[in-house]
Amino acid sequence: MKSTKTLRLLWCVAVGGVWLVTACNTPSRHKILTVFFDGVPPVGGATNAAPSVVSTSETKPAAGEAPRPSTPAPSSFTVHPPFQQHNCAECHESGSGQGLRLPTPQLCWTCHKDFVTGQKVKHQPVENGDCTSCHEPHSSENKNLLVKTGNGLCLNCHDDPLAGFKYKHQAVESGDCLDCHAPHATNFKALLKKSVKATCADCHDDLAKKKYVHAPVSDGDCLACHKAHASNKKHLVKKSTPVLCWDCHDNFLEKAKFKHDVVEDCTSCHNPHQSAENNLLTKNVLKLCADCHDDKDLKADKGHAGIEGRSCTECHDPHAGTNANLLKASARPK
Ligand code: HEC
Ligand code: HEC
Ligand code: HEC
Ligand code: HEC
Ligand code: HEC
Ligand code: HEC
Ligand code: HEC
Ligand code: HEC
Ligand code: HEC
Ligand code: HEC
Ligand code: HEC
Repeated sequence: MKSTKTLRLLWCVAVGGVWLVTACNTPSRHKILTVFFDGVPPVGGATNAAPSVVSTSETKPAAGEAPRPSTPAPSSFTVHPPFQQHNCAECHESGSGQGLRLPTPQLCWTCHKDFVTGQKVKHQPVENGDCTSCHEPHSSENKNLLVKTGNGLCLNCHDDPLAGFKYKHQAVESGDCLDCHAPHATNFKALLKKSVKATCADCHDDLAKKKYVHAPVSDGDCLACHKAHASNKKHLVKKSTPVLCWDCHDNFLEKAKFKHDVVEDCTSCHNPHQSAENNLLTKNVLKLCADCHDDKDLKADKGHAGIEGRSCTECHDPHAGTNANLLKASARPK
């Protein structure tokens, strides 16, 4: 397990001074912003203030080329450079800021590279050009000119995906929507930044390491069995066992005359992900059966004469059967 929170914290600590103040410590950050806001040109007024620290040499556009967005210096998080530089007419019909020169998103694409066209999955407000539902056009206290920070931004429009559920995915409860989702557009379903397999493997990378592996797990099809955010079932499963298993396996209990008492609790014998034993058994068959069946009792049974070292499943079906004692046809006493 790697915790992105921890990573973020380490990052903040590692990058040190200025970043620490702007990104990690809210009170000091506010102070800096206040100082910074003093340098912001008044709307409609002229200013001699130095332009904001934005374009570094590596991001400076060539002549005639639109500026490329990139990670700016921390102190530029709050003010949009063309606003800061009083280039109102870049966006407005007039220098004092009346109607827009172009509708969004076209207006934004005059300077920013269009990151939406060509992507398979587009976030609806982005596709609709509703950039200002998330971004302030002029300045903001938040980085990336966002109208709100963190999950609050997403919850402006989305219901809390955890609300009303009994079991919550810790990654959603104490993490960021943006740990898994992109805000604008991607090539993966549900606006994920990566494939489902890669998304889950970011934090759960040890579920398909053993010798036998459950096919849907090694395929990374975690969502065949789990919900991504929350569930009313333990371990975030979509359905309880055995119903979950019948999504892909023939229901061998439906017509069975005799059933093993514990058979519906599939995970008492099978690991749903992986195992060092074949058939995904939680342990070697003999040990597994011995967990619940006392050796002394078994030995007392005449059907068990001379079974030393033989596998229980040579004679018994572990699930169900047409014969009493779950005996396989070949093992029925003649
Ligand atoms: C990067 C593009 C951009 C620049 C540069 C820009 N604006 Fe704006 N401005 C916008 C957008 C987008 C809106 C929101 C329009 C809407 O939502 O209908 C807006 C809205 C406004 C409004 C309407 C009131 C408000 O705040 O919502 C005024 C007034 C305004 N701008 C003045 C200015 C002035 C003055 C400048 C120059 C100092 C400036 N703008 C520079 C994009 C820009
Ligand atoms: C006149 C050019 C221009 C226009 C038009 C423009 N931007 Fe920008 N924008 C910039 C520049 C320059 C930066 C600084 C990026 C950089 O460092 O290269 C920037 C930065 C940003 C950032 C912050 C990036 C960051 O890393 O903090 C956001 C968000 C943003 N713009 C959104 C918009 C949106 C939304 C629109 C349309 C309403 C828009 N921009 C229109 C020039 C423009
Ligand atoms: C649903 C909210 C949302 C909408 C709508 C939205 N953005 Fe963003 N945008 C974000 C968030 C969140 C980030 C910060 C991403 C991050 O931290 O990884 C961001 C970052 C950016 C950045 C800077 C970083 C980058 O990815 O280049 C730019 C530029 C930008 N947005 C432009 C736009 C434009 C243009 C539109 C409209 C076409 C738009 N955004 C619509 C949420 C939104
Ligand atoms: C301005 C409103 C608005 C904001 C803010 C917003 N969304 Fe959305 N989002 C929508 C709409 C509308 C849809 C399409 C209808 C739906 O699926 O609910 C959507 C769809 C989605 C989808 C499903 C996409 C798909 O194709 O399956 C995801 C995932 C998503 N949003 C995540 C986020 C995240 C993460 C944030 C915060 C960064 C966010 N949204 C912020 C309005 C918004
Ligand atoms: C651990 C990764 C992860 C995090 C964190 C996360 N999501 Fe998701 N989200 C997913 C996955 C995976 C799907 C696809 C679910 C599916 O297809 O069954 C999804 C689907 C969605 C959808 C599409 C509709 C739906 O509910 O299936 C929306 C909307 C959404 N997420 C919003 C959010 C919001 C808002 C947050 C933050 C509060 C968030 N997500 C946090 C992984 C995540
Ligand atoms: C950002 C890290 C992160 C990502 C990405 C992530 N998880 Fe998790 N997940 C956690 C943490 C933290 C826990 C709680 C600790 C634990 O049980 O291992 C957890 C727990 C779980 C649990 C057990 C819940 C329980 O109650 O026992 C399941 C199931 C799960 N995650 C499935 C997924 C799936 C499916 C995905 C991909 C859609 C995914 N996770 C992506 C961090 C993450
Ligand atoms: C065939 C169904 C199935 C698939 C596919 C599946 N799981 Fe599970 N998972 C389960 C079941 C059932 C449990 C509950 C096990 C129990 O009750 O002991 C579980 C439990 C978990 C747990 C918590 C307990 C533990 O073993 O750590 C995590 C975390 C988890 N799954 C993550 C994942 C991830 C990530 C994937 C994709 C790589 C995945 N699962 C694929 C069925 C599945
Ligand atoms: C998304 C589909 C899917 C679900 C749900 C599913 N399985 Fe499977 N399972 C498979 C596939 C595919 C195989 C491989 C079949 C084959 O090799 O013939 C398999 C094989 C197995 C095997 C044999 C493994 C081996 O080593 O030969 C066992 C045991 C098993 N599943 C148990 C379960 C249990 C228990 C559940 C419910 C918790 C379950 N499965 C849910 C798809 C699924
Ligand atoms: C009491 C332990 C036990 C329980 C409970 C159990 N199994 Fe099994 N299962 C086994 C054993 C042992 C094998 C290996 C059988 C063999 O070697 O003949 C097996 C084999 C399998 C196989 C692969 C071979 C086959 O028969 O297709 C599947 C699939 C399977 N189990 C699914 C399930 C499902 C689904 C459940 C829950 C309804 C379940 N098992 C409950 C012990 C159990
Ligand atoms: C989780 C506990 C558990 C495990 C593991 C378990 N059993 Fe059972 N088994 C039971 C219970 C409870 C009964 C019903 C009470 C009894 O007859 O002892 C039972 C009954 C049986 C019966 C008699 C069925 C009948 O029709 O009367 C057989 C045969 C049997 N088990 C074989 C096995 C074999 C073979 C294994 C190993 C693959 C195994 N059991 C593993 C709990 C378990
Ligand atoms: C050579 C075939 C064979 C093997 C191997 C075998 N059994 Fe049996 N088992 C039988 C027969 C036959 C009966 C029915 C005996 C009777 O009718 O009196 C039986 C009955 C049972 C019963 C129900 C009666 C009782 O004793 O409670 C259980 C439980 C049981 N076996 C469990 C096991 C376990 C666990 C193993 C593995 C350690 C095992 N068996 C291995 C043939 C076998």
